[in-house]
This record gives sequence, C-alpha cells and structure tokens, in this order.
Amino acid sequence: MTVESEIDQEADQGGSNILVVDDDRAVRDVVTTLLAEEGYMVSATADAEAALTLAGRQDTHLIISDLKMPGHDGLWLLDQVRRESPDTSIIMLTGFGDTEAAVECLRRGATDYLLKPPKVTDLIRAIERALARRRIDLARRRYQKRLERKVQAKTAELTAALEEVGESYQNTLLALVAALDAREHETSDHSQRVVRYTRTIARIMGYDGEELAEIGRGALLHDIGKIGVPDSILLKPGPLTKTEWDEMRRHPAIGFRILEGIPFLRSSAEIVLSHQERFDGGGYPRGLVGEAIPIGARIFAVADALDAITSDRPYRKGQSYDAARAEIRAYRETQFDPACVDAFLTLDNDRLAAIRAAVFQLDG
Ligand SMILES: [Fe+2]
Repeated sequence: MTVESEIDQEADQGGSNILVVDDDRAVRDVVTTLLAEEGYMVSATADAEAALTLAGRQDTHLIISDLKMPGHDGLWLLDQVRRESPDTSIIMLTGFGDTEAAVECLRRGATDYLLKPPKVTDLIRAIERALARRRIDLARRRYQKRLERKVQAKTAELTAALEEVGESYQNTLLALVAALDAREHETSDHSQRVVRYTRTIARIMGYDGEELAEIGRGALLHDIGKIGVPDSILLKPGPLTKTEWDEMRRHPAIGFRILEGIPFLRSSAEIVLSHQERFDGGGYPRGLVGEAIPIGARIFAVADALDAITSDRPYRKGQSYDAARAEIRAYRETQFDPACVDAFLTLDNDRLAAIRAAVFQLDG
C-alpha cells in the first residue's frame, strides 16, 4: 500500500473529532457551534488538564486551544499532547502581541496559531490544513511501520537461509572427513574428538567467534591431504620405507592445495598445511619455528597428541589422562607451544572426559 492510498483510507473514515479548549465560555460556544455546523464532531472544555484527559479517552484528531488559561496554560497542554498523543494536532489561539509565544508554540510542535478572535474563514482554513497534514503524517508513519515490518520479516528469512547454508557446509565437511576415515578403516570419532579438544584449548586461550570456527575446521580437515596418498602406503601394515615416508609427508601440502581455493576455508587451509610442524622447527613440510606456525596448528598439535595417547590402538591400549599430561608436558617447548600446553594443563580429568564424550560441534 502506498502513502497516497493510506491517505484515501483515512479520509474515508468519516468526520474529524475536534476538541476546543478555552476558559472563555463565549469563545468556546461560538467556535463549537461554528465547527458543528461545518460537520465536525466537536467537544469543548475550559481547562488544560481536562482537555488532556478527554484527548486521551476519545480519538481526538485536533485540539484548538487557548494559550493563556488559569492553571496549566496552552503551552503545557501542547507539551503533554505531543508526548502522550502524538497523533493529535494542535492549533493555538493567541492574544494580540503574543507573537513570541506563538513562535514558541510552533517550535514545540503546534501545527498552526491564530490570533484571537479568529476570523471564521481563517479558522476553517487552518483546521483543514491541520487535518490534511495530520492525515499525511499518519499515513507516512503507518507506511514506514509496514516497511519496517517487511524488512524485519525479510531479515529473519535471510538469517534462517544463511543458517541453513552454514549447516550444509558443516555437514559437507563432516561427510568428507567420514569418507576419509572410512578409507583408513576408522570411524570419524578421532577427528571429531580432536576438534573438540582443539576448540576447548583455543577457547581457554581467548579465541572465539569466526576465529574459533576456523581453528575447529582446520583441526577437522587436518589429514584431508591423505586422500592423495596411495592405499599401498596409507594402509601398509608394516613399517614404511624412506621413499614411502617421503610420499606420506606430502599430505599437508596436498590438503592445503585442496582447500586453498575455497574462500571460507582459507585460514583452515593454513592450519592443514602446518599441522605436522613442531614448535622447535623439527616438523614438516616447511620446518617452521615457534609463532611462525599458525596458532590453530600449534593448538591442534597438543589436541592430536592428547587423543593419540588416550585412545586404543590395534597394538596397545589407550593410556590415562595423567600419562598424556606427563608426556605432553615433557615436550613443552620442543614439540609443542608452551602457551598451548599450559592452556591444556588447566583441564582436569573430569573436564577431559566430558569433552571426549560431548556432542560434536563445529561452529559457534
Ligand atoms: Fe597428519
């Protein structure tokens, strides 16, 4: 609906309610009679306070008020009405020589002012102008509100759609990792546990929001490059030869190449490329040292070691959290970033067990 059709709708709603406020009975009676003859619905009162009550009770379109009255004056009434019934217009009646007061009335939101006693034609014209302006203001406000509601509804729809897209992304990543784990005849529990440990340590170190999500995705996808390692090497039961190791060690770079072209995985790709680095520079593929290794990869290294030590393997049982703590502490500053180790060491056994058993979450 347009502003114009809103105005038509308002105009069709019948006569306008006008309230006359003046302590002078003669003025009240003359104006009331005149306006009733013009077809308006008119009521009248002698003081400002009664006028405010009346205006609040009935749907008053317009108040015509004297400026000077005993008790509360017209300015007081003007201020109250602007605040309590902003849809009601006001025309002030001022005495001769009250120009300053009249200007003040306009400044405070009166639609118009007329000198007392008002000429009939001036009064009718002023009323028509005030009512027309009020209709336009009302229509504009209603139109604005309707637009705002529409924008709100569209925003909600868009947010829901984005959430759905986010969920699809997450499910796609999970499916990819599950496929990868299946190839190694494993469930994806390991990958998902490592994500949970990584995210917990990252949160302790102060990471949140999108940064935390990127670190989590990096941890989830860390071994994605193993897709490029031949079965004969990846699934070989015995020890690998030197050449086979060289081949195996290409998986961080392969993973990086797979992910680097996907904008929302750009940071996670850096973590994938660096997840086999060591804090002392003894890792691969680039032999990065210390803080040159992305923080997500430094945190992941601790989380991955923790899960490897505490999980069952075909050739040995998983060890206790205390054993994992001791081993990780032993490699503080060599294999692991001390800050990440210290953050990990704040977690007690109950907390670690809870994280291990928790429901998987990748975002938020
Ligand atoms: Fe790896």
